[in-house]
Amino acid sequence: MLTIGISPCPNDTFIFDAIFHQRIDLEGLQFEFRFHDVETLNHKAMSVDLDVIKVSFFTYLLLRQKFELLESGSAMGFGTGPLLISKNEYTHEDLPHLTVAIPGHFTTAHMLFRMFAPSVKKKEFMLFSEIEDAILRGEVDAGVIIHENRFTYEKRGLKKIVDLGSHWEKLTGAPIPLGGIVARKGLGADTIEKLNRIMHRSVKFALEHPEVAMPFVKQHAQEMAEDVMKKHIQLYVNENTLKIGTEGKAAIKKLQEIASEMGLLRQSNLKSESIEQALRSAILQGRIRKEDTATIFYDLTFLEERIRYLTSCFPPATLHGLAIKANPLLRIMEHVRGVSPNIGVEAASIGEVSLALQAGYRPDQIVYDSPVKTLADLEFALKTGIHINMDNLSELERVDKIRNETSTTGAGKLGASQESTSTIGLRINPQVGLGTIQESSVAGEYSKFGVAIKNNRKELEHVFLTYPWLTGVHLHVGSQGCPLGMLAEGIGLLYDFAQEMNERRSEKGFPHISIFDIGGGLPVSYHSDTTPPLMEDYVTEILKRAPKLFDSFRVITEFGRWSYTNAGWTVSRVEYVKHDPGINTAMLHVGADLFVRECLNPRDWPHEYSVFDQAGNLRQGCDEHPYNLAGPLCFSGDILAKGVILPEIKEGDYLVIRDSGGYTFSMWSRYNSRQTPRILGYYNDGERFDLLKERESLEELHRFWK
Ligand SMILES: Cc1ncc(COP(=O)(O)O)c(C=O)c1O
Repeated sequence: MLTIGISPCPNDTFIFDAIFHQRIDLEGLQFEFRFHDVETLNHKAMSVDLDVIKVSFFTYLLLRQKFELLESGSAMGFGTGPLLISKNEYTHEDLPHLTVAIPGHFTTAHMLFRMFAPSVKKKEFMLFSEIEDAILRGEVDAGVIIHENRFTYEKRGLKKIVDLGSHWEKLTGAPIPLGGIVARKGLGADTIEKLNRIMHRSVKFALEHPEVAMPFVKQHAQEMAEDVMKKHIQLYVNENTLKIGTEGKAAIKKLQEIASEMGLLRQSNLKSESIEQALRSAILQGRIRKEDTATIFYDLTFLEERIRYLTSCFPPATLHGLAIKANPLLRIMEHVRGVSPNIGVEAASIGEVSLALQAGYRPDQIVYDSPVKTLADLEFALKTGIHINMDNLSELERVDKIRNETSTTGAGKLGASQESTSTIGLRINPQVGLGTIQESSVAGEYSKFGVAIKNNRKELEHVFLTYPWLTGVHLHVGSQGCPLGMLAEGIGLLYDFAQEMNERRSEKGFPHISIFDIGGGLPVSYHSDTTPPLMEDYVTEILKRAPKLFDSFRVITEFGRWSYTNAGWTVSRVEYVKHDPGINTAMLHVGADLFVRECLNPRDWPHEYSVFDQAGNLRQGCDEHPYNLAGPLCFSGDILAKGVILPEIKEGDYLVIRDSGGYTFSMWSRYNSRQTPRILGYYNDGERFDLLKERESLEELHRFWK
């Protein structure tokens, strides 16, 4: 028995009637039908809940590894696109300020809307059938309608802002690929072939005997008028439904290209197949030499796409200061700088500031955040003109002193006679609590960082009403382990504070607080079956708590882990395999030197591991006994993971530690003086490699200890 999920919409029930009522040859297959709205079906596909599913084509693009698209059954065509509608008249210029209802995150309609209006960030996701009412009640300003609503909205006094389908057609010349029928790849090629034939038969039967399907259509279409039902079918069931054909395939490819260009097809983790392919190419091309006992890889195509996606989630004026502490590799810093002009860096020391300058960042793209700054550090930062976040009230006094000296002498500490162009903010601890990982949570009742908002409210008010030049607020709640609600509430508390301060600053003739640095901290997935929150959902959550954040402030972000972790992986040669009762130990060339946090606190940092043979082929199966993954350092805590179930490992195999692109090499430990590994970047699964950093030579090592 195969499970099938379709929507109760007329076009779906029309084409599935013959299967449902067994009017055609089903080649021995039996089906159990489930009816859901399109977005529920998209979610069911993500969790691979059903065997055959009608999904939005955008969702299909995300799930191509798991599902095969059937040749028949697609809803695609010209003039079928979703419409953006509203009660009031709006122009294109109004769009960024509107709250727009969308019929599901993973719908093609959402994708088409993002293509048309990437600047709209205030979105409410709701059932497609609730959108018109939500607009009429004034809960949202506009909405994207799909299905039969395109035939009814005008009668309800709503107006079209734009036909998103026409926009697509003008741009691509292709039919609009709305949704298609997909089959789980696990069903096997034979069953999928049968499904292809059955689906074709079913669509053909419906087109040849349209009246036969109507009772089934009516049964599911509830109160829909008959003419609307028929129009609906005429619009969405056509030549492309019978067979997708070359035109249809080209349309899907176009959708894929555009989604990829917009960074919307980013995955949270690299796919195993893509790591395997890159590793094999690296081995074949001799990029892993004999002396490269361990090598770190960065998928630069994936990284670029991720950064593009990040910038697409926020309004264009946002500065994304990627946290250097997560990844200070100069070549990577240079690389991401080129991806978008909105990319900057967050530096936690003068050393990191100097790396940023070296990588070509302009002072206005650098945010300096160190928790302990000397007078000399502050003078240097002010002279350089970078944005500085003060950590405490004494630091503010120091800056005030430097500024006064400068302005009275004209050529004070800042040198030359110019005043600093730095902007200055203050780190505030919103005291919203701790996440699941103690050592990376910094917004509890106590934190060594920033000025605690509840404990020091008066002092905070005092400094913001004393220093006109203090025009920024900054917070960072934690890194990994903090839920979206907690992160957004931290921002909300500071937003309320900054709004209040701005009113009072206006009374004094002070400039407004205009810079709002929300820090980093969006968690990532360290395991391919966990689903971390999406960046765009974080933005939606922020806007619920702080609706005018992006209108009132220039926002800075500081995502480190989110930017880099999933783009990198590390491979170590397995030098030896030891066998003890019930447990094996793989002796590796990286341990607590590269994975400091993992070795000290393995429960909070659970990477995924894969084993490859010497040619780079993935080993399959499970060894009888689990493995401890031991590093090369002389202390017993140098074990990356204990009791991991893996295929049988042989000496000389490669062990890959996935999702190791952030907070790994940046935390390198010099203990035991191991040479730092070679670091390679690559594009398109290993089509091209770039040397990002060479393996450390013994001379360089000597220099370090000299
Ligand atoms: C001030 C500050 N900003 C940004 C970050 C980056 O956090 P994440 O890498 O989790 O995004 C950190 C991490 O410790 C931080 O302390």
